[in-house]
Amino acid sequence: MKVAVIGLGVIGTHHMNVLKKLNIDVCAVCDIEDSKLEKYHNIPHYVDYKRMIREVKPDCVHVCTPHYLHAPMVLEALNADINVLCEKPLAIRQEELNMILEAEERSKGILGVCHQNRYNKTNLYVKSLIENDENRDKFTGSACVVWNRDEAYYRSGEWRGKWETEGGGVLINQALHTLDLMQWLLGEPGQVTATTANFSLKGVIEVEDTAVAFFTDGSDFSFFASNASRDNMSVEITLKKPGTEIKIMSDWVAVNGKTVNFDVINEYNVKDCYGSGHQGLMEDFYDCIQTGRPFSINGKEAAKVIRMILATYASNGNKIDIKR
Ligand SMILES: NC(=O)c1ccc[n+]([C@@H]2O[C@H](COP(=O)([O-])OP(=O)(O)OC[C@H]3O[C@@H](n4cnc5c(N)ncnc54)[C@H](O)[C@@H]3O)[C@@H](O)[C@H]2O)c1
Repeated sequence: MKVAVIGLGVIGTHHMNVLKKLNIDVCAVCDIEDSKLEKYHNIPHYVDYKRMIREVKPDCVHVCTPHYLHAPMVLEALNADINVLCEKPLAIRQEELNMILEAEERSKGILGVCHQNRYNKTNLYVKSLIENDENRDKFTGSACVVWNRDEAYYRSGEWRGKWETEGGGVLINQALHTLDLMQWLLGEPGQVTATTANFSLKGVIEVEDTAVAFFTDGSDFSFFASNASRDNMSVEITLKKPGTEIKIMSDWVAVNGKTVNFDVINEYNVKDCYGSGHQGLMEDFYDCIQTGRPFSINGKEAAKVIRMILATYASNGNKIDIKR
């Protein structure tokens, strides 16, 4: 298996480390900054990803670059029938999302997207609880992502904090995982009413640092996300139906106020063989490539949260349809 990684920043370095743990050799790396490539001087390196794909013909490419580069890089790989694992978000615009979905249909390559929180044991446990609940359609929910991303963070990368290159702020970057979990657990909503604002970083970012959204029609839940807090709080998810309230906070789950014991979580967890996060996701992804089993977080699946985010940005306080 020939694997190549594009983008060797914060998350690209993590991909490299996980690949090493999984004993998967990386045959080529690509970044436009020499300082990033130097760390991997023993691996053939490129500054031009198209050239790398053409010359190396990898079996699989990891896309770990800024948001605006995901679509062109994923398209380049899929159009060459190469498997591709893309960091989130899959795309930042509707037109590029459509192009990716069309390419996915045509390609012999598998597309996977890093929504790695779906592999956390607590989330898998709650997913199984809801799926086995006859009255699952009675659940409503709320989620809160309250973090800190300051000026220094946004200045750390030219692409951050801009519509053109990041495609949004807290929602499309930090809170995407939690929003994806909400629709994964409760189902896809059809409409959203939302507002966004920049409370704390005026003059620093042009995107939102805070978003409030109410999703309805299909599933219904409220969502609050902000990067304007002084500290990073644990993400909180609450799911409720008459007689049952489930709370998730990182590795902690409670049902009707009682903490669920980890032995119970493990017992329920069908994918216990996988570690959590990126490692679990990559193990699953490479197993799918090798066995031909479909990978669950493909383009179609990752597109759901992108449509919700694009509609949230377009809502401007009005109830609008989430385009399917
Ligand atoms: N799944 C997660 O939990 C998670 C966590 C952090 C980041 N991410 C995602 O990973 C992606 C990268 O984020 P980051 O924090 O690592 O950013 P970063 O800025 O630290 O790294 C991006 C890297 O891409 C390189 N790059 C830019 N243009 C390139 C090009 N044309 N060709 C090759 N390389 C190029 C940059 O030089 C840099 O090294 C983003 O999509 C981000 O949302 C995901």
